[in-house]
Amino acid sequence: MNTQEPLQLLGGLNAQTFMRRHWEKKPLLIRQAIPGFKPILDRSELLDLAAMDDVESRLVVQALPGKEKQWRFRHGPFARKSLPPFKQPGWSVLVQGVDLHDERVHALMNQFRFVPNARLDDLMISYATDGGGVGPHFDSYDVFLLQAHGRRRWRIGRQKDMSLVPDMPLKILANFVPEHEFVLEPGDMLYLPPRYAHDGIAEGECMTYSIGFRSPSKGEVAREILERVADQATEEAGSAIYRDPAQTAVANSGAIPEAMMDFAQLAMKMALRDPLAVRRAMGEYLTEPKANVWFAGNDETAQGAVRLDRRTRMLYDDKHIFINGESFRAAGRDAQLMRALADDRCLKSTEVSRLSAPAAELLADWCRTGWMHVEP
Ligand code: SIN
Ligand code: CO
Repeated sequence: MNTQEPLQLLGGLNAQTFMRRHWEKKPLLIRQAIPGFKPILDRSELLDLAAMDDVESRLVVQALPGKEKQWRFRHGPFARKSLPPFKQPGWSVLVQGVDLHDERVHALMNQFRFVPNARLDDLMISYATDGGGVGPHFDSYDVFLLQAHGRRRWRIGRQKDMSLVPDMPLKILANFVPEHEFVLEPGDMLYLPPRYAHDGIAEGECMTYSIGFRSPSKGEVAREILERVADQATEEAGSAIYRDPAQTAVANSGAIPEAMMDFAQLAMKMALRDPLAVRRAMGEYLTEPKANVWFAGNDETAQGAVRLDRRTRMLYDDKHIFINGESFRAAGRDAQLMRALADDRCLKSTEVSRLSAPAAELLADWCRTGWMHVEP
């Protein structure tokens, strides 16, 4: 991707400038980021997704006017008749991970790959009736909010007071003070950095697409890496048992011997001794498919041009290729081609024909498992 080229999607900024000025720093309102944008899924197609078991969806309902204002919240799946009527104002359904289910939505998300793939999470679509929204809140992650259908009034602001309304099924800011307000029309987009408070209220029926990002916490990364490294550690160092020929008799038998603590430190050091182990575990973790994803195997053979399945996650570092939770060492021309596959999500037939026999065999495997497909 050319990161120097001005992008309409970013209001005429190039991706470099956007990242430097706005990413994780300050909001950006982009009028007509996608001119003439039309919703990819209509209301009924979106609600069909919200009815599926393997799709994560949520319903947020405000109390009917005249009653005490109280938010209600439910997790999907939602049978159509379990949703409020369309003429009832103030409710919204949010459908997560639509990019996994629709090729056109996946293609839309691909326009945001000026951010590393490892950071891209999913594309969520919300449908709301007049006045609907999820209330004033903040998210821990960056988000692009693309207006797809109808109008939505956004009020946004940096907040000092991040306290939440107590005993609510949703995280709603108790004392939201907006600094800016805009009405977004179809094709308009708003970028918000993490923890920037916002409240989007539908003006009439409305659909909003959220391109969301993932930021694992240190704790999560440590757990994921240690779990993966642990499997290898038990194989490699498993046989060396603790010995203590120099142990003296003790008066306080409850105390753990220091030598035993040193043994633990050493075992940990040995488990993490391979400098590539942490990198490998990180790549495997980052490419692990989402929990609700499975691939349908087929008998495609990798001949001609190939394209990654939209659910496939593929990344690399300077020594490895990672795909759907697995890692492979790669070097030379194979590594170059595999990296191009991870960047562009496709390879031309001329590129496929330059792979070594073992790399071509891997590609064939990935085609059989449904991780990638031969281009028609
Ligand atoms: C929505 O689309 O209603 C909510 C999106 C958000 O505020 O993050
Ligand atoms: Co939000």
